[in-house]
Amino acid sequence: MSIFRKKSLSSLLSQLSESGEGTLKRTLDAKNLIALGIGAIIGAGLFVRTAAAAGEAAGPGVTLSFILAALGCAFAGLCYAEFAAMIPIAGSAYTYAYCTMGEFVAWTIGWALVLEYALGAATVSIAWSEYLNNLLGGTIPFEWCHSPLEVSATGVHGILNFPALVILLLLTMLLIKGTEESATVNAIIVFTKVAIVLLFIAVGWQFINPANHTPYLIPEGTVGHEDFFKHGWGGVVRGASIVFFAFIGFDAVSTAAQEAKNPGRDMPIGILGSLVVCTVLYILFGHVLTGVANWSEFKIAGKEASVAYAIQKYMTGYGWLATMVTVAILAGFSSVILVMLLGQSRVFYSMAKDGLLPKVFAELHPKFRTPYKSNWILFVFVGLFSAFLPGSLAGDLTSIGTLFAFVLVSAGVWIMRRSDPDAKRPFRTPLVPIVPLLGVLICSGLIISVDRTTQLTAGAWMLVGFVIYFLYSKANSKLASE
Ligand code: ALA
Repeated sequence: MSIFRKKSLSSLLSQLSESGEGTLKRTLDAKNLIALGIGAIIGAGLFVRTAAAAGEAAGPGVTLSFILAALGCAFAGLCYAEFAAMIPIAGSAYTYAYCTMGEFVAWTIGWALVLEYALGAATVSIAWSEYLNNLLGGTIPFEWCHSPLEVSATGVHGILNFPALVILLLLTMLLIKGTEESATVNAIIVFTKVAIVLLFIAVGWQFINPANHTPYLIPEGTVGHEDFFKHGWGGVVRGASIVFFAFIGFDAVSTAAQEAKNPGRDMPIGILGSLVVCTVLYILFGHVLTGVANWSEFKIAGKEASVAYAIQKYMTGYGWLATMVTVAILAGFSSVILVMLLGQSRVFYSMAKDGLLPKVFAELHPKFRTPYKSNWILFVFVGLFSAFLPGSLAGDLTSIGTLFAFVLVSAGVWIMRRSDPDAKRPFRTPLVPIVPLLGVLICSGLIISVDRTTQLTAGAWMLVGFVIYFLYSKANSKLASE
């Protein structure tokens, strides 16, 4: 059946030998790719969700939640690495699915990736706006930095989120200039972001109060934590789904495969390297944060800007660190948005090249050779979400879209090992099928634990995608005319 037609691996790889006009420039090495990964990973997830997971469900055991979420990402990441090295073409999971599970699944995954990248960028731009307002002492009028769906404590309604739009505009312009320049800016930001996390860990370590770590998991019977997923090991699992957002982005490295100098070697290093660095930082960060302040404070007073709260309240003499952390957070969020926008435009680029989306998404700038029209269209699209949606809804949708992509990529590796066992695999996922199966199981488990409204909204988004596929993409697909 035509909706299950597949791209052949050899035709995909032959695209790689094209040169000159119409192809993306190969400018990124392993270091750039790790930086790209860390740039996408450390952001709102670490600085906002760590405290939320500790306060809501895991207590100091949030460090264990990080380990659980990292395991799910690592299994999926090993699968991503095999594909990224084998099929180093822009488009990530979408492209892999096109070779393994056919066009319809590829479309489905590409459509789900919009949730991850476009909504991910929107979510973080909304968080950026909040932190900017915080840094400016709350001087931006409420109505101009909130969505119309939000109302302040004094009854003021939001109109639109202006700072979120501004940061999106600036980063869109940077992306259009090219990934080489954006990779340099990204490297500077990543350095600042990692430095500030390390500084917080090093300074905070001396202020850890061991009493805050005892007991390590929220005890059964704690008031407000009666639910199975709000204390003990259940709380650790729920915590993992909350901090999952903090890991989103390592897979974005794979979207830049076509711009990697030596993809066979560099893609696995980029994907797994950034994941390992971030996991270690997160565990240490969670340990210090829940040691400096008690987890229960993150339910009330320390709920917002938790890191700054912990520093100001307990780390006497380090007020300057709170300001520095906020500035670094703003820079850090920018690099997350940058990689998300990059990822989204590269997925659309691949889908347009395949005829599943209009050509405009694959048109390259004559000088910069970036898909500039796609970047502008995305600015409008992502901007609408940033300006008019609250961050929490966008954030949950981002997680579910990503988990879905992880499940399909993990399954894809196993399928392709059977359907195309002799293909050249510069990097092989170890222990197939155990690793892909664990990737599918953990990520599906986290999808099931997401709340029902988010599941239904994501389902509605996918339905819209199916309608577009059957009305437009199926007939316009390049494979249809072959
Ligand atoms: N991992 C990214 C963040 O935490 C999406 O902001």
